[in-house]
Amino acid sequence: MPTHFLTGEELSPAQLAALLDRAVALKAAPLSARPLEGRSVALIFEKPSTRTRVSFEVGIDELGGHPLVLRADELQLSRGESPRDTALVLSRHVAAIGIRTGPDAMLAELAEHASVPVVNMLTAGHHPCQALADLLTLRETFGRLDGLRLAYVGDGNNVARSLAILGAMAGVEVVVSSPPGYELEPVAGARLVGDPEEAVVGAHAVYADVWVSMGDEATAEERRRALAPYRIDDALLDRAAPDAIALHCLPAHPGEEISAEVLYGPRQRIWDQAENRRHAQKALLEHLVGG
Ligand code: CP
Ligand code: NVA
Repeated sequence: MPTHFLTGEELSPAQLAALLDRAVALKAAPLSARPLEGRSVALIFEKPSTRTRVSFEVGIDELGGHPLVLRADELQLSRGESPRDTALVLSRHVAAIGIRTGPDAMLAELAEHASVPVVNMLTAGHHPCQALADLLTLRETFGRLDGLRLAYVGDGNNVARSLAILGAMAGVEVVVSSPPGYELEPVAGARLVGDPEEAVVGAHAVYADVWVSMGDEATAEERRRALAPYRIDDALLDRAAPDAIALHCLPAHPGEEISAEVLYGPRQRIWDQAENRRHAQKALLEHLVGG
């Protein structure tokens, strides 16, 4: 059975810490490891992507491997071939499979039948690769993870869930603040606080994601109405710890979930966070595929 990375819970806390150590080392020396020499990695995209696609594609190249970007509408998947058969065939050619899709059940079926590691590049339920980069950014900024507090303000979605799961594993207290109807279900180690002004008190990082995730477009207007009080702006950031940073997984909608002042201001680490996707995922691939 290969080791997959579907929710992040596949890692032990010690493995997560070691993986972040490797990410720091790979960031300092991006071409220092070539564990994918002579091997290919399939990257299936059923949804749009900028950061995930570019960071995986460039990262795999830096590790000596060949990234195979596959748009789902160009695969037989789009004509009804099963995830099972897709997994069986791809496993004969590539060293790992990354997939961005909607249903977590589709990811689970692919992983069940793949004989190579499967990486979740975002589903409706989880975005664990994003959380790895977020933890790397926190570590870079504060020099540690244990004992930090991160307040996620907005929709209790895939990004919130992965932050809650992987944050707890790294010793980061994750507080999730969402309006009624958009709350994250209880996750061990995470705290749910309705009021965003209360949620950010003492936080070392205040985190935003889009109000309308991919697949939620039909309810866009009601989401914007419900989530309007959950915007990250300077006033909200002022209520957090004095050295607090702003994070956002991107893509951003300035004026909606985050103000332009925060997005481009001195307290954000958002563009470092986007870069850190590559370094964290390279460490992940090294862990899963070979070292
Ligand atoms: N944060 C993130 O996953 O961005 P993309 O949708 O552009 O890949
Ligand atoms: N929650 C967002 C994250 C985008 C990277 C979505 O699923 O669309």
